[in-house]
Amino acid sequence: MKTVLSGIRSTGHLHLGNYFGALRNFAQLQHQAKCFFFIADLHSLTTHPKAEDFHSNVKIILSEYLASGLDPEKSTLFVQSSVPQVCELYVLLNMLTYKGELERTASFKDKVRLNPQNVNAGLLTYPVLMAADILVHRADWVPVGKDQEQHLEITRLLARRFNKLYNVAVFPEPEAYNFGSNLVKIPGLDGSGKMGKSEGNGIYLIDDQKTITKKVMRAVTDSGPAGKGSPMSQEITNLFTLLSVVSEPAVVQHFRDQYDNGTIRYGDLKKQLAEDICKHTLPIKARIEEIYNDDAYLKYVIDKGTEEARSSARATMELVREAVGFKVF
Ligand code: TYM
Repeated sequence: MKTVLSGIRSTGHLHLGNYFGALRNFAQLQHQAKCFFFIADLHSLTTHPKAEDFHSNVKIILSEYLASGLDPEKSTLFVQSSVPQVCELYVLLNMLTYKGELERTASFKDKVRLNPQNVNAGLLTYPVLMAADILVHRADWVPVGKDQEQHLEITRLLARRFNKLYNVAVFPEPEAYNFGSNLVKIPGLDGSGKMGKSEGNGIYLIDDQKTITKKVMRAVTDSGPAGKGSPMSQEITNLFTLLSVVSEPAVVQHFRDQYDNGTIRYGDLKKQLAEDICKHTLPIKARIEEIYNDDAYLKYVIDKGTEEARSSARATMELVREAVGFKVF
């Protein structure tokens, strides 16, 4: 049986990118594989969140995971910082990772550009901690969005490097996973790059119908189809990408045909898009609040998941420690 693992940082509410990039694929896989899903609270520390917000950020993400369909009876749900073996493996993998390799990653370069005053070592070694998350459970498949592809490459590199250096076969080489085969990049509504928590261009699972409709109706468009054979603008491509994720293929085709013959009205396209987004997210929204307020249930889920995750990580670390040469006196 395959082992599947994924995680999301505990920084704010989950948006459509998180849901369609990672969560939904995972929720589907949990019926057929051994599944771990966790909250990356250590990773969130790279941006120095306030201590008083820390726990509620974790609780929000856990409630949103459960509301999105992660089933604690099928999957192991846990918080990264409560499995200390991750930190031990992180230290060991750091010894096998070269500064230049980390400096070259696109996510690091982006962060340096956006926040030159906070280029901490945790940011540089972010992919190593991520590799430790994955390898400590010897995962085969990692449901993630397109932006994580390079991190998965580093994870595979470190798995190979460890196995080769110590002449063992402890780690499998994990693959980024998506049901629809291609990794997705959910665009933002501002016509530019991807939907993100810090970009302010997102639709969140907790948004109500009015908010979603307002955000979609305000999405950036162009002045109209440029005519047959002309390339589609980035703004409209983004709306079609979102539509293809949330709507039926026939609906997408209908608007595509209208675009091609120049009769499309962007207002109609947006109205449809908002409706179809709501179909996915409103049932989730309805569950989030109820779960968030059920402390006994959340404690049950986390106690169970922590135990399972620690036991899985302990088993890997026994093999790792033996490979490295640690011995008890
Ligand atoms: P985070 O919180 O930035 O993103 C969590 C997941 O959401 C996906 N995602 C997107 N997918 C498609 N389109 C988007 N616009 C979009 N925005 C976010 C991300 O690809 C990711 O799958 N480093 C991870 C957290 C992590 C992790 C791990 C994941 C830490 N350790 C081990 C898997 C395995 C991250 O980017 O979190």
